[in-house]
Amino acid sequence: MEKLVINGGTPLQGEVKIIGAKNSAVALLPATLLIKGICTINNLPNISDIKISCQILEKLGSKITWNNKNSVTIDNTNIFNTVAPLDLTSQFRASYYLLGAMLGRCKQIEVGLPGGCNLGPRPIDQHIKGFECLGATVDLLQGKMIASAKKLVGTVIYMDIVSVGATINIMLASVLAKGTTVIEHAAKEPHIVDVANFLNSAGAKIIGAGTDTIKITGVKSLKNNITYSVVPDQIEAGTFMLAALATHGDITIRNCIPEHLDCLTSKIIEIGGNVEYNNDTIHVWYDKKLSKTSITTMPYPGFPTDLQAQMGVVLALADGTSIINENIWDSRFQYTAELNKMGAQITVQGKSAIFEGVENLNGATVFSSDLRAGAALIIAGIAANRNN
Ligand code: EPU
Repeated sequence: MEKLVINGGTPLQGEVKIIGAKNSAVALLPATLLIKGICTINNLPNISDIKISCQILEKLGSKITWNNKNSVTIDNTNIFNTVAPLDLTSQFRASYYLLGAMLGRCKQIEVGLPGGCNLGPRPIDQHIKGFECLGATVDLLQGKMIASAKKLVGTVIYMDIVSVGATINIMLASVLAKGTTVIEHAAKEPHIVDVANFLNSAGAKIIGAGTDTIKITGVKSLKNNITYSVVPDQIEAGTFMLAALATHGDITIRNCIPEHLDCLTSKIIEIGGNVEYNNDTIHVWYDKKLSKTSITTMPYPGFPTDLQAQMGVVLALADGTSIINENIWDSRFQYTAELNKMGAQITVQGKSAIFEGVENLNGATVFSSDLRAGAALIIAGIAANRNN
């Protein structure tokens, strides 16, 4: 098991540059399968999910050239395999995007059930419902999903819940379908807009991405030779904003889209932190004790679940009693038990966590249950053992 040793107590100060969004990049790479030719994706985060995504594409027939650690050129002229390797797809969540992309490209795909962080139950019934509405059949067999269609035909699909993954997956399956698909009650996250922008740059006809209703008019094929840059990661940017506050620091965050963080910014200002936007830069700094608040995680533009744990560290150190209600994932409070080992006073009651603010955290050995919990615990480690 990998470990990080953090000597805390130093305010974080300086500048950081934000790279492309993980949750967009893991959709854009499979989305390239819809292009029978070459495209280059820039601004990719240098993380394992991206490397595994590229390995999966190679197994399907993609030819991949790394231009540098953040850019790949993908030639999808010959996709000859419709069985995605289980040992790779089980390593991360977003392997489910192979379903939509390969249904669109080959009308056939066999892929294992997705892996990913343990956040409680992570059903994909809405993805399957969408594919079936378009005319595909999806069978679950011995831990694998086998999706196929004679043809895909556009229709109106009403999502029972707001799902990022299902919205993107249905968009992927619809781009080359016959006729028009309408996704009602769609998710609105920036990465949904990003995937739509990429596909539109290749000649897809998608309107309404970023709103509740997305309309996709099927086209016969997409254009070749596309170059696209992944949207900046708003969760990474938000993580640095909260790290600045928790450590009593002062950070300038470059290469981001500040408006994607409006919800976090307004909460930070409400509790007494300082935020300034300037074009693609956010400046965040701490100058006084922060106060309590209450937060409820929601789909975009609500407060993101992926910043909940990082915000939890800030509230663990704020004045008074704060509450976080987690509405998206059942098991996203696992980090609170670890923070309590560091001296926090957090009680979880069902979908809510109650934070009695403390003056300081102490160093301790803690365990990260998922990606964002890990980020939160790193912030807590840096904030711990402060002398002033
Ligand atoms: N849901 C269903 N049925 C479905 C799909 C989702 O009931 O078919 C439920 C989920 O159980 C959850 C809610 O709907 O309660 C929202 O799930 P969503 O489908 O939006 O999540 P996702 O697409 O699986 C993505 C991100 C997550 C992020 C969520 C919410 C990727 C690869 N993952 O997951 O990111 O928390 O959206 O914003 O895009 C992370 O980056 O740490 C992470 C977990």
